[in-house]
Amino acid sequence: EKGGYEHFMLKEIYEQPRSIYDCFRGRLNVEEGWVGLGGIKDYERKLVNANRIIMVACGTSWHAAQVGEYLIEDLARIPVEVEYASEFRYRNPIINENDVVIAISQSGETADTLAAIGLAKSKGATILGICNVVGSSISRVTDAGSYTHAGPEIGVASTKAFTAQVTVLTLMALSIARKKGTLGESRLRALLGDLEAIPAKVEKVLEKSNIVEEVAAVYKNAANALYLGRGNCFPVALEGALKLKEISYIHAEGYPAAEMKHGPIALIDEEMPVIVLATKGTSYEKVVSNIQEVKARKGKIIAIITEGDVQVKELADHYIEIPDTDENLVPLLATIPLQLFSYYVAVMRGCNVDQPRNLAKSVTVE
Ligand code: F6R
Repeated sequence: EKGGYEHFMLKEIYEQPRSIYDCFRGRLNVEEGWVGLGGIKDYERKLVNANRIIMVACGTSWHAAQVGEYLIEDLARIPVEVEYASEFRYRNPIINENDVVIAISQSGETADTLAAIGLAKSKGATILGICNVVGSSISRVTDAGSYTHAGPEIGVASTKAFTAQVTVLTLMALSIARKKGTLGESRLRALLGDLEAIPAKVEKVLEKSNIVEEVAAVYKNAANALYLGRGNCFPVALEGALKLKEISYIHAEGYPAAEMKHGPIALIDEEMPVIVLATKGTSYEKVVSNIQEVKARKGKIIAIITEGDVQVKELADHYIEIPDTDENLVPLLATIPLQLFSYYVAVMRGCNVDQPRNLAKSVTVE
């Protein structure tokens, strides 16, 4: 059942080229510049005309929502708010019929997310779902939705469900953008082509697993770890830190790289591994300066870089290269080495990777 892998988590990490492909299959056509999500077809107008989109989720699904905020705001130009379902449900939020609420949940059973949907419904908002488990409670109570089609996820730490959620959010952003005309024809086609190329690029990242394993061996006894990213890689940093905490029980924090000097920099010494998302893009130079700040305090840099990079390669103690892609799609690739890193560290520490202590696969109590 683990298909020759030692753990479900590793199997599911390796399934991602396939699960991402299954997620966009039939939902885009590069030649025609077409993209659409059948499940929410009847709500396309509503989305295009929405004043605001509110996303509610918990845990890893909340991180996917954070990536979705960058995608929808940048590509489709609709304001997006991302909320922890548990906070949203208890804070008397301002919400009305012109808002579209998107609930994101792998299991489709998370109690807080279900309650947030109930509240938004009572205020007249349109509710869409992004779920993995077909026929789950959330998929039944939403007005419409799109499944992630990632297949069953058994490992408690979410991996392939996250990249599938980000893929659906990419498709959603692109289909709204297409209807709204916020992207030119050629930019839309280029993005669709880049999305179609992602599974093969994920495959290439997975081929680097031995390098990630070597780095994991160096830091397996760390007491703390810091993850830094900017823009759409900030939520990737949060997700990387969550994965490490959950399965290896190492204290880890994700931060927007620029926030480091407002506090966390005090933690940096020669014992501290700092995992930096430093791929090519609009904030590249800024991230380079952040790396220099960490180096000046003797922190150890593990950098995720774009293939062919030279500058960060020289500064970093360790680096893992990922293929180049459109900046909007980088989270789909940059997440993979972080999943592998947490996996190898946890295995080397003798942790129960598939069933970490105190955690359940679906959290049906608040
Ligand atoms: C992290 C993890 C949890 C879930 C969270 C939400 O690896 O698995 O943080 O992401 O409990 O679960 P769903 O997506 O089922 O609503």
